[in-house]
Amino acid sequence: MTQAATNASDLMVEMHNVNKWYGDFHVLRDIYLEVKRGERIVVCGPSGSGKSTLIRCINHLEEHQKGDISVGGVALTQDVKRIEQIRRSVGMVFQHFNLFPHLSVLENCCIAPMWVQKKPRKEAEALAMQYLERVRIAEQADKYPGQLSGGQQQRVAIARSLCMHPDVMLFDEPTSALDPEMIKEVLDVMVELAEEGMTMICVTHEMGFAKTVADRVIFMDQGQIIEENAPEPFFNNPQSERTQLFLSQILGH
Ligand SMILES: Nc1ncnc2c1ncn2[C@@H]1O[C@H](COP(=O)(O)OP(=O)(O)OP(=O)(O)O)[C@@H](O)[C@H]1O
Ligand SMILES: [Mg+2]
Repeated sequence: MTQAATNASDLMVEMHNVNKWYGDFHVLRDIYLEVKRGERIVVCGPSGSGKSTLIRCINHLEEHQKGDISVGGVALTQDVKRIEQIRRSVGMVFQHFNLFPHLSVLENCCIAPMWVQKKPRKEAEALAMQYLERVRIAEQADKYPGQLSGGQQQRVAIARSLCMHPDVMLFDEPTSALDPEMIKEVLDVMVELAEEGMTMICVTHEMGFAKTVADRVIFMDQGQIIEENAPEPFFNNPQSERTQLFLSQILGH
């Protein structure tokens, strides 16, 4: 990233009065969210409240109908070049990993740097190995996703995203499909990323993670941001009744 681009905006993600409908269903209502470079945001809320839809709008996996979204100062429009530019700066990690099953771990990590960034294979492989080391899975580089545990696959998915040097990482419930013993190995990698200063927006109900790394926790219900605060006041002194009820449900067991 050039110095000019770095200075262009201190705000990594801007969502101003974003609204989205699925047919008649108003799924996002006047979403106003600004995320600074280096900020870590946790998004929580009941099932169906619009959390996935919100983060998927940021890289145009879903299209919003009203309001403005910018990433790194670049306004998201219908223009395909803009959409591609934004997608190059946004990494995304999904609940179900979404690795290519017919490609090895190494190939999964090399494919975008080679095809999108036109890196030579040797360079892409060296980069991939560097990130696979970082998520502690380099020794599995030649395996296929189906030969790995869920936690290992998710770490590969994180490494694959990092190979594109994203400016912001979106996580959509990255640990919710994992067995308990694998959750920690993925969260550990996410905590390290956060500590290194990555801008992150994480949909998760891992409240320990939220308390450790989040700068801000956002609670959504029925397509709206109901409440947002730093973790300490968010958990200890939630303002709205809906937040209180939600927290009592998820922290109650
Ligand atoms: N493609 C779609 N077409 C129509 N409705 C949809 C579509 N995708 C999601 N919805 C609806 O929009 C609402 C919000 O969905 P979304 O997946 O964003 O919720 P969520 O907060 O991520 O829920 P969960 O915690 O279960 O993942 C839900 O009522 C869902 O049924
Ligand atoms: Mg979801």
